[in-house]
Amino acid sequence: MRLNKFLSTAGVSARRKADEIIASGRVSVNGKVVTNLGTQINEKKDEVAVDGKRVSLPLSFVYLKLHKPKGYASTNSDERGRKTIFDLVDLPERLFSIGRLDYDTEGLIILTNDGDFANRVAHPKSEIEKEYIVKIEGDIKESELAVLRNGVVIDGERLPKARVKVVGLQSGMTRLSVVIHEGLNHQVRRMFEAIGKNIKLLKRVRIGTVKLGGLKRGEYRPLKPYEIEALQG
Ligand code: URA
Repeated sequence: MRLNKFLSTAGVSARRKADEIIASGRVSVNGKVVTNLGTQINEKKDEVAVDGKRVSLPLSFVYLKLHKPKGYASTNSDERGRKTIFDLVDLPERLFSIGRLDYDTEGLIILTNDGDFANRVAHPKSEIEKEYIVKIEGDIKESELAVLRNGVVIDGERLPKARVKVVGLQSGMTRLSVVIHEGLNHQVRRMFEAIGKNIKLLKRVRIGTVKLGGLKRGEYRPLKPYEIEALQG
């Protein structure tokens, strides 16, 4: 395995950044500093260290889907001491989340200890679809839907286009399905803010072909092999 893939899989950084770390002389293999980006690693035998600290690969890989409830942060440790999604998972592995959901957003999040997989799936180049269910008060005009579909302009920035459709109307609320490919900060909330709509519920229901399905809030389940494969593209 190439050294940058080794570092990425171990959760040090994405491969490109790992190359920079290697080139800057911070990585050693079997006690010797290496700066050759083509260095190959025998992951069963070689000892790799970054800044003198041993880095190793997980013994086995874990890929999970979790139903994140509202009121949980998506970071490893929240600077405000709030509960995080990692408090919901009772496993010894050091897990990474693939992308994030806002504190007040609920729904599907994928967790893994395979850093390289996490980096590749989260990379904008992967262009994986993310589908959200959005609930707003009142209704929405066709002209407002058109604005969302074409990409709203907010603070001088045009957000990417989105697939948006109304999926239900109930007791004064409108439910919409919103499909985006990116994971920009507060992307869906900013879209609706731009047309003056206040989101009452934001829930991610799908990432690529992986669906939230019947998972209850706070529950998690291993991904099926075909789901893992589909995410890798
Ligand atoms: N868009 C948002 O605004 N928030 C999320 O948590 C996810 C997508």
